[in-house]
Amino acid sequence: MAASLVMPIVPVAALHAQPLVVQQVGSKPAADTLRNPPVLRNISSRPHTVEVNIVAAPARISVLPGRLTDVYAYNGSIPGPTLEAREGDRVIIHFRNELPEATTVHWHGVHLPAKMDGSPFDPVPPGGRYDYIFNIPRGTAGTYWYHPHPDGRSEYQAAMGLFGAFIVRAANDPIATLPEKLLVLSDNRFRPDGSIEFADSNSTQSNIDMENGREGNVLFVNGQVMPSIVIRKGEVQRWRVVNASAARVYRLAIPGQVLLHVGSDDGLFEHAVERNDIVVANSERVELLVRGTGKPGSDVELMDLPYDRYMPQTRPADWNTPRALLDLHYSDRVMPAPVTLPTTFRVVPALDTAAATVTRTVVLSQGMINGHTMDMSRVDMQASVGATEIWDVENVVGMDHPFHLHGFQFQVIDRNGVPEPFRSWKDVVNIPKHEAVRFIVRYADFPGKWMFHCHILAHEDHGMMAVLQVR
Ligand code: C2O
Ligand code: CU
Ligand code: CU
Repeated sequence: MAASLVMPIVPVAALHAQPLVVQQVGSKPAADTLRNPPVLRNISSRPHTVEVNIVAAPARISVLPGRLTDVYAYNGSIPGPTLEAREGDRVIIHFRNELPEATTVHWHGVHLPAKMDGSPFDPVPPGGRYDYIFNIPRGTAGTYWYHPHPDGRSEYQAAMGLFGAFIVRAANDPIATLPEKLLVLSDNRFRPDGSIEFADSNSTQSNIDMENGREGNVLFVNGQVMPSIVIRKGEVQRWRVVNASAARVYRLAIPGQVLLHVGSDDGLFEHAVERNDIVVANSERVELLVRGTGKPGSDVELMDLPYDRYMPQTRPADWNTPRALLDLHYSDRVMPAPVTLPTTFRVVPALDTAAATVTRTVVLSQGMINGHTMDMSRVDMQASVGATEIWDVENVVGMDHPFHLHGFQFQVIDRNGVPEPFRSWKDVVNIPKHEAVRFIVRYADFPGKWMFHCHILAHEDHGMMAVLQVR
């Protein structure tokens, strides 16, 4: 049995009566201990419709073995339940806010009407309800996620437990038959009594958290610490990875294995790319193919290797310590037949740079965009529906800032002038220290006010965000 890290809400007395189940070190699991978050139940009987209920509420659950923690949770679980839909579906989410504070639910990366975006412009007050209703465009199958986006409180609410995955499937997914794993990555910090630790205001730690974003020393995959996945000899698994951390950037690697990187934020690439490691910045997603190539009976770990995104002054002392996220067990069972992979996963049509009518320069400095902090009553940029534009995003400081645009997916053109080697649809791109990235975007539809911001949630909350108005 695995460590049971996310348990249903039980009274304290009842919990004490239960044996404490802790994962055995060195055990050879026959089956995964990694558990998927629950999938939201579709209450609609209409075709091509996914209708679900989500409630955000305080809960007291077991996040660490043997302890209860006061959290915020979607439908009582961390991560929240996974929203599953297909391209072309109409999605209806009946949301209820039972938190003691305002919140929103933002459908990160999805192309939808501005009123459905769950941006800070549309807060849901405590006790309030909001129906998020939108259609999922064809060609946008991918791994998305949802999280709160209230003005100034995103980091706190995410740290309290509010985040979940949103998988959009394609009718013609060429790797749909591969065994699939969802890995939602998060981190957190706790006091000895199991409560979530936040730095006291004006403390040194709170200044560090402000600079770096809040990182935790406990790393979770689907809310579990060091779960395991079993893979057979010759098996190929599809892993969908979501970085739901507020600030931690992961550099994923599996020792002894070359990863096949097959997709990013908004779906599959055209062809697989071989990588020894993959940097996954905050809010980014990757799709990987992991292969059963190791010695039967052996174990390796999915690692988070050091990645220096920090200012030297606030770099954590242990920043260069590799951390294990998950145990991958090579079983001695063998796949009955070899797996053949398609050479092309899908066509990613190129946005035409010759069609771009505007090139915008966006300068990221510490906590600011183009020299300003966020003002909800200001519009920072104006654009027209249907326009194609190039954004030139320059980071002028010595710390990485992952840059996210709401509502419209884009294609990276180049990084520091080096052309992107292949096309992919993205909604966030990490801009490393003193580097610049250009991307191309088309505002296909949906007038309104759209946020763009750094996805280190502390930076976003403190105003490293601005508004694009599309008319
Ligand atoms: Cu994932 Cu504006 O956010
Ligand atoms: Cu977003
Ligand atoms: Cu930032």
